[in-house]
Amino acid sequence: MTRIVLFENIHASAKEVFVAAGFDEIVTYASALPPDQLGEALRGAHVVGIRSRTHLDQALLSDLPDLRAIGCFCIGTNQVDLEAAVLKGVPVFNAPYSNTRSVAEMVLGEAILLLRRIPEKNARVHEGFWDKTAEGAFEARGKTLGIIGYGNIGSQVGILAEAAGMRVLYHDIDAKLPLGNAHATSSLKRFLSQVDVVTLHVPGGKETTNLMDAEAIAAMKPGSILINASRGTVVDIPALTRALKSGHIAGAAIDVFPTEPKSRDEPLDSPLRGISNVILTPHIGGSTQESQENIGREVAEKLKRYLAGGATKGAVNFPEIAPHEQTGVARILHIHQNVPGAMGALSNLMGEFGLNIVSQQLQTRGKVGYAITDVDGEVTDQVIEGLRAHPITIRCDLT
Ligand code: NAI
Repeated sequence: MTRIVLFENIHASAKEVFVAAGFDEIVTYASALPPDQLGEALRGAHVVGIRSRTHLDQALLSDLPDLRAIGCFCIGTNQVDLEAAVLKGVPVFNAPYSNTRSVAEMVLGEAILLLRRIPEKNARVHEGFWDKTAEGAFEARGKTLGIIGYGNIGSQVGILAEAAGMRVLYHDIDAKLPLGNAHATSSLKRFLSQVDVVTLHVPGGKETTNLMDAEAIAAMKPGSILINASRGTVVDIPALTRALKSGHIAGAAIDVFPTEPKSRDEPLDSPLRGISNVILTPHIGGSTQESQENIGREVAEKLKRYLAGGATKGAVNFPEIAPHEQTGVARILHIHQNVPGAMGALSNLMGEFGLNIVSQQLQTRGKVGYAITDVDGEVTDQVIEGLRAHPITIRCDLT
């Protein structure tokens, strides 16, 4: 029996994939759980599905002996200790492309709204005022959009922005092929001084923490706009608040925050609240019906392929194998320390248990090796326990 626990309101398309594949012990939660309840909810779980708010750290993972795989039903995976997971023999899967378009559309929409100061005007009309003015309102056409992080989402934003008549510059640490008429710039400071709208599409983590700090924000063109729908740590929020209040920055759209509320009833604690011409959204850049359905299906399919056949193609932390059709009577997934003689030891053990190896695929990554072995012979619980007991073994399962 495989126990699958899904948090954070993962789309029903995921459950459909699991049920169709014959997995029927599926527990779902509508939100993330506080850390003191998470461990209990995960007890006995073989598969866990999360989005961005559930943190799976080393301490928690080491308490979950049955865990076989983790699905991040989103793009980012830095909410999981990936190294701790692979050292436990647990692959982590995500959906790197399913919500690219949703984020890109939202960013372009926000750029246009902020250039026209619509958030501020909308609030004034709701309050009963009719401030009809063209002051500070601009077309997107002919303005320059600056994209920091020209990956899947950044490059898609560039394509949409060009369709709206914007010029597109981008800055990336890697050499990236420009799409459309976009131009690369290597100096971040010069880039910031040239663009009317800056939009951030870099990954989270140490390298990008406070990428937009007080100095970078000061280097932005006076009256320009900042959009962040990447990760909350990328922008120094107090510095942005000061720049908005001084008028150096004319508007901002922030979808992600250094600390985000854990539930819908908890208010966002941010100095940006109440500042005019600022759009604040609750980390919904990728949250559309289309993307959630795609993500649910994409990640559940990857988990299913791992459970059913050992496939790890697309895993973010694990040796990747796209296995061929099963050839023997049984398929054994063996995750071991990547040390000399590991495969010899595995083959000898299988021989001792009377198993004949029909085919075998191996891949290694860092400290971990992963072997899929199709065998003829009787694979009893004792055989699996015997393989598990060997000192090189990290995990061993039958598909
Ligand atoms: P990606 O990996 O395709 O692209 C990231 C790009 O940033 C790469 O081209 C990389 O070379 C570049 N980069 C890394 N460090 C950099 C630095 N210091 N300076 C300049 N460029 C740098 O990622 P993708 O799929 O485009 O996602 C981008 C971000 O959007 C991620 O942080 C992701 O977590 C976030 N995201 C947010 C969503 C939301 O709901 N707001 C939904 C989906 C993704």
